[in-house]
Amino acid sequence: MITDSFGRVHDYLRISLTDNCNFRCFYCMPEEEYDFTPASRLMQTEEIVQLAKIFVEQGVKKIRLTGGEPLVRKDAAAIITALGKLPVELVITTNGTRIAEMLPALIAGGIKTVNISLDTLQPEKFLFITRRDLFHQVRSNIELLLHHKITVKINMVVMKGLNDNEIKDFIDWTKHNPIQIRFIEFMPFSGNKWTSNKMFSLNEILATIAKDFTMLPVKAAPHDTAKSFMIPGHEGSFAIISTMTAPFCSTCNRMRLTADGKLKNCLFSDGETDLLSPLRNNQDILPLIQSSIWSKKKELGGQLIEHFEKLDADSIKNRSMITIGG
Ligand code: 5AD
Ligand code: SF4
Repeated sequence: MITDSFGRVHDYLRISLTDNCNFRCFYCMPEEEYDFTPASRLMQTEEIVQLAKIFVEQGVKKIRLTGGEPLVRKDAAAIITALGKLPVELVITTNGTRIAEMLPALIAGGIKTVNISLDTLQPEKFLFITRRDLFHQVRSNIELLLHHKITVKINMVVMKGLNDNEIKDFIDWTKHNPIQIRFIEFMPFSGNKWTSNKMFSLNEILATIAKDFTMLPVKAAPHDTAKSFMIPGHEGSFAIISTMTAPFCSTCNRMRLTADGKLKNCLFSDGETDLLSPLRNNQDILPLIQSSIWSKKKELGGQLIEHFEKLDADSIKNRSMITIGG
């Protein structure tokens, strides 16, 4: 079992397969020209499986593949198939562009839930946010997943003045589709132009939805980061991830492995523990994992405790989102 000094058991591992992505979402990529990590510094398929096995032996029950965009990695299918053999629930967060080609691998890996990042239902706005004209491709891939009875969750980062006026459209989408929309509060990361006035909070999201719909809270599972709701008569549901205004750190069970093999004990931690170099040197990895998690801070990496309105995003020491992997 992997535990921290606050008694939290860590049984959920998020593995970033690459920091590369075929989109350029402004809130995720750093502003300056960004060089993706060269392949030799990334964990290789065998190394990912070796590390994953160590975590699984220590009680990890769920693994999420993230990026960048995990499905742009050339050997993504091989990694998914290999991890699918471990006794864990395997899930993935993707921008949805490469689902059609990768569907056989997703099915072979036993992936039953796919989270798709989609911040707008308007093709022109999609192009503005991602700088890629691939809205229709993503939409048809979502249909493909639903057709194959794979659970679809949509991650929508709500940004004031940009897409907060689409909250109702996203909820309308759940009327006849068994999808879950996850509204995410916009979070600050290195170089992502975050300011508190671009954030649309949990309370603002709820107030917006309440104007048009009656909603009922759904009881949370033990480690849920999202507050879930249902709307009577809707096939789908929605949830809100309120990292900024109502963090859920007290029940956190997650660990993150970056594509270059560094363990981060929190999305907002300023430090990280290299696991890949020691693995390549045949060192014992488990004590490194244990001490990294033991040093985990109580909340938000110990960095965002002040009131978020006064927060200066540039004062946060962290990687940018694309190099951490959601
Ligand atoms: N704030 C909130 N969510 C973010 N994501 C990426 N950057 C941010 C941010 N600054 C989301 C993506 C994706 C998930 C992995 O993280 O939209 O769905
Ligand atoms: Fe790529 Fe996702 Fe980041 Fe957009 S948010 S640039 S799709 S990794």
